[in-house]
Amino acid sequence: MKLLDGKEVSAKLKEDIKRETAELTQTLGRKPHLVAILVGNDGGSETYVASKMRNCEQVGFDSTNLHYEDSITEEALLAKIAEINQDDSIDGLIVQLPLPKHIDPEKVTEAIDYKKDVDGFHPINLGRMQRNLPCFIPATPYGIMLMLEHYQINTSGMKAVVVGRSNIVGSPMSILLARNSNPGNCTVTLTHSRTQNLKEEVLQGDIVVAAIGRKNFVTAEMVKEGAIVIDVGINRENSSETKSGFKLYGDVDFEEVSKKASWITPVPGGVGLMTIIGLLKNTLEAAKGTVYRKA
Ligand code: GUN
Repeated sequence: MKLLDGKEVSAKLKEDIKRETAELTQTLGRKPHLVAILVGNDGGSETYVASKMRNCEQVGFDSTNLHYEDSITEEALLAKIAEINQDDSIDGLIVQLPLPKHIDPEKVTEAIDYKKDVDGFHPINLGRMQRNLPCFIPATPYGIMLMLEHYQINTSGMKAVVVGRSNIVGSPMSILLARNSNPGNCTVTLTHSRTQNLKEEVLQGDIVVAAIGRKNFVTAEMVKEGAIVIDVGINRENSSETKSGFKLYGDVDFEEVSKKASWITPVPGGVGLMTIIGLLKNTLEAAKGTVYRKA
């Protein structure tokens, strides 16, 4: 078994981004700027956004975290998004999900200018991704593709099984792996909560991407010998063993599955770090105007 080491790959790619950012800042006369909107007080979301902001600063971006109370109205949030869309000093805008129940995430996603949608969630970016056109690719799937690319894993012709069909990971991941690209060119099965005989489906996978959000959901008996296993899960459990007061678990039973896998991502230290790289790369591209030309 070999480790798909998110720490090593993200550190290298972060250095590349930092170098490019320094050059771009000279040319633009300002730093790339990412705004993240966070609503409410979900512990996980607060941690993720704080990490995104910290990483922005580390590579030389400006970052702004707009943190609103749970009680903000949908109207007020949409008005704020419209204001940011118009602000030429801001290159990228993300709204951390999930949102409180009274705010429609679809409305919010579509309100963001697709040229600033560095999460790649806007239908225009999704459609363009499916067509293999320049676009912003959702950060987690993008990070996974960068990781496969880094280790020069040739996925062409492989059978890929994606577990979980979320808009954020499973669904875009299945599109990317099926695209005529490298990595890509897989025969993809997208499985979900209604899939029958899930174990048999996952056993077919030369590549398995686990994005269900349930601790140790993928067990050794579900995984083919020699499979490449990508664990997207970040399941937090309270723990007295760690300084933070919680411990992270993946969607894959690493201990057992790693005995069968050819390659596997650890949790933590795997996909999570690559998600950040995906977001940073999208923001850099947005500032450069290479995906969509600046007006
Ligand atoms: N919630 C979980 N993952 C993500 C992400 O990549 N972007 C946003 N905006 N919200 C998320």
